[in-house]
Amino acid sequence: MRVAVTGGAGYIGSHTVVELLEEGHEVLILDSFANAAPDVPDRITAIAGHAPRIVRVDITDAPALTAALQEFAPEAVLHFAGLKAVGEAVSNPLEYYRVNVTGSLVLLQAMQAAKCRRLVFSSSATVYGDPDQVPIPEDHPLRPTNPYGHSKRMIEQVIEDWGVANPEIAAVNLRYFNPVGAHASAQIGEAPSGTPNNLMPYVAQVAAGQRPRLSIFGDDYDTPDGTGVRDYIHVVDLAQAHLAALGLTATAPGVQAINVGTGRGYSVLEMVRAFEGASGKPVPFDIVARRPGDVATSLANPRRAADRLNWTASRDLDAMCEDAWRWQSYLLRKNS
Ligand code: UD1
Repeated sequence: MRVAVTGGAGYIGSHTVVELLEEGHEVLILDSFANAAPDVPDRITAIAGHAPRIVRVDITDAPALTAALQEFAPEAVLHFAGLKAVGEAVSNPLEYYRVNVTGSLVLLQAMQAAKCRRLVFSSSATVYGDPDQVPIPEDHPLRPTNPYGHSKRMIEQVIEDWGVANPEIAAVNLRYFNPVGAHASAQIGEAPSGTPNNLMPYVAQVAAGQRPRLSIFGDDYDTPDGTGVRDYIHVVDLAQAHLAALGLTATAPGVQAINVGTGRGYSVLEMVRAFEGASGKPVPFDIVARRPGDVATSLANPRRAADRLNWTASRDLDAMCEDAWRWQSYLLRKNS
């Protein structure tokens, strides 16, 4: 099948493109390369043994995006392109709404012009905000707490309304929990520029000796060891969930939201210990104040994914840490 992938050179997008190519799909990557290395497509090709097509385009550039989709005539679109740093979104909300919301509007209009009716959207568990219950089911109220989360919720709403007006549309809003790890080949992974915002890349840099110590944001949460508990999911499992969602759009018209997580949580301290085990390196840390906006526990209820996508995560915490460490070690060698 012909599949267009916005943000296909990014962290989650690139892993998904590998899975698509390995399944024999024809892939067009639409990416501005604003937050991706120029050699990612070559690395994807090296892993998958097939090359994706590439169009360098900004998601908000309506004429260029429309022309690219009309030319490729995809049967489905996977939409990853967007900005994702919560702190940056709080200080620059207009840019977040421009890229994430306007970019998605431009994409849906371009899909309409190209008569493409199948969509999988990269949403986030952040749309739930501070949860009333864990594990979180998809019908939990949506009340994001920052502009990044609002932008994801707004895009989900736009897609829902588009689906109501066009019953032939089939779309899945995948709500990711905490994606971590890298491809086992260590050819692709997450390469945050500057100080990492998220736990796993930070821990990896401390283990690699690139940063002296981890700051653990609070040990007085209502959790077994007092540190925050999250539902970490291996990025390759997440990529495979996209292929399952793509399959669902072939048979299920309408718009649906589906959590992508394991349903199993790990605390910050458990993550540190697991990473030390996988890397054989110490991860020294300090306990510091809570990070504003953080919640004690966030876990997916993964039942709907199992029922509708026939998908469950298969890679465990050791695989997440080992693959993240292999990738981090590669980055270290590359930059030394
Ligand atoms: C964060 C975002 C969320 C986004 C997700 C993507 C916030 C408030 N939320 O989620 O919107 O969808 O990333 O993966 O930024 N921690 C430390 N020290 C660190 C970094 C993190 O102790 O240096 C702790 C946090 O307090 C938390 C856990 O590690 O308990 C996970 O943090 P993180 O990786 O940033 O993910 P989330 O906060 O769950």
